[in-house]
Amino acid sequence: MKKTTAQNEPPLPSGASQAKATPAAQASSARKEKEFVWKRRHLLGLEDLSAEELWHILNTAKGFQPVSTRSIKKVPALRGRVVVNLFFEDSTRTRTSFTLAAQRLSADVLEFNASRSSVSKGESLRDTVRNIEAMGVDTFVIRHSAAGAPHYITRCTDRHVVNAGDGQHEHPTQGLIDIFTILERKGRIEGLNVVIVGDIAHSRVARSNLWGLTKLGANVTFVGPTTLVPKSFEQLGAKVSHNLDAVLKDADVINMLRVQRERIASQVFPSTQEYVRLFGLTRERLAKAKPDVLIMHPGPINRGVELASEVADGPNSSILRQVSNGLAIRMAVLFLLNQVP
Ligand code: CP
Repeated sequence: MKKTTAQNEPPLPSGASQAKATPAAQASSARKEKEFVWKRRHLLGLEDLSAEELWHILNTAKGFQPVSTRSIKKVPALRGRVVVNLFFEDSTRTRTSFTLAAQRLSADVLEFNASRSSVSKGESLRDTVRNIEAMGVDTFVIRHSAAGAPHYITRCTDRHVVNAGDGQHEHPTQGLIDIFTILERKGRIEGLNVVIVGDIAHSRVARSNLWGLTKLGANVTFVGPTTLVPKSFEQLGAKVSHNLDAVLKDADVINMLRVQRERIASQVFPSTQEYVRLFGLTRERLAKAKPDVLIMHPGPINRGVELASEVADGPNSSILRQVSNGLAIRMAVLFLLNQVP
C-alpha cells in the first residue's frame, strides 16, 4: 500500500484539533499523521470515516490549496487517469468543482449528462456504468436522487466511486468543504457550537456535516420547524431546537440550508413569510449572534428566504470561500482514492 504523505501533506493548519495540546502531544499527533496510510478506494459518506481519515483528507486538501492560486493551475498527480462525472441530478458547484479539480490534477474528464444519454431509452444504471467503465475510466463521481446509488455502483464496477450527493443520504465532499472552511476561519473544530438551520429532514449536507463535525469534537444543533427537524434526530447525535433565537447567541458557526421543495410533496410550514419570520437569517437576527459568528450555506441560496442578501454577502459570510475550498477538497479526494490500487 502506497503512503500518501509526500509534499502534498502539510501539518495541520495552526491551532487545528490540538488548540490546547502540549508541544509533546502535538509532536506525537504530527508523527501519527505522518505514519497514516490511506486505504479507501471509494468515498461514499462521512459516517464511515474515522477522525484520522477526516484529518488526512483535510491535510491533503491544505496541501493542494495553493495550486488554485498559481498562474499554472495544474499538477501532474493524476496524469493519464480518467474521471467521469455521472450526474443524474442538476448541479452548479459540485459538478464544476469536480471537473476543475480533476483537470488541475491533470486527469482527463468525461461529462455524462443523464438527460441526453441512453438512460432516456431505458438503459439501467448498471449497464450505463459498465459501458463507461469499458472505455477505461478510473473514477466515477456520481450524483443521484436515490440514496445508496453510489454504494450500488461499487458493486457494478471495480473502479473508484465518489458520492457527489445521493438523495437525502450524504454529500461527503460538501461536508468536508464545510469542515475545512470552519477550520480555516476558526482555527479549530473541537468544542465549537455549529448550528445547522433549515430543512434537515431532506438534507444530505446536514447529515454529512453532522457525522464529520461530531467526529472532530464539535457540538451540532439542528434547528427548524418540527416538520423539517423531528426530535428523533437527537438519536443521530445532534441537539434539536425549534427556536433559532434561543440558540443563536452561543453559535460559533451558523450553516443555513435551503428548503428542498423538489423533495417535499406536501405543505410543511404555513407560508414562506412565516418561515422567514421564525428561521430566516436576517440582519436583525444576526445582530443577536456573536460578532465573529461564521455564516455558511452550501448553495444554491434562496435569497430572502433562509438568508437575507445582506447577510449572504456580508462580512461574516464564508459562502464563496466554501466554493473555492471545494476545489482543494475534491483534488484531495480524487488524489487519495487513486493512490489505492
Ligand atoms: N452545494 C451543492 O451541492 O451545490 P450544487 O447542487 O450546485 O452542486
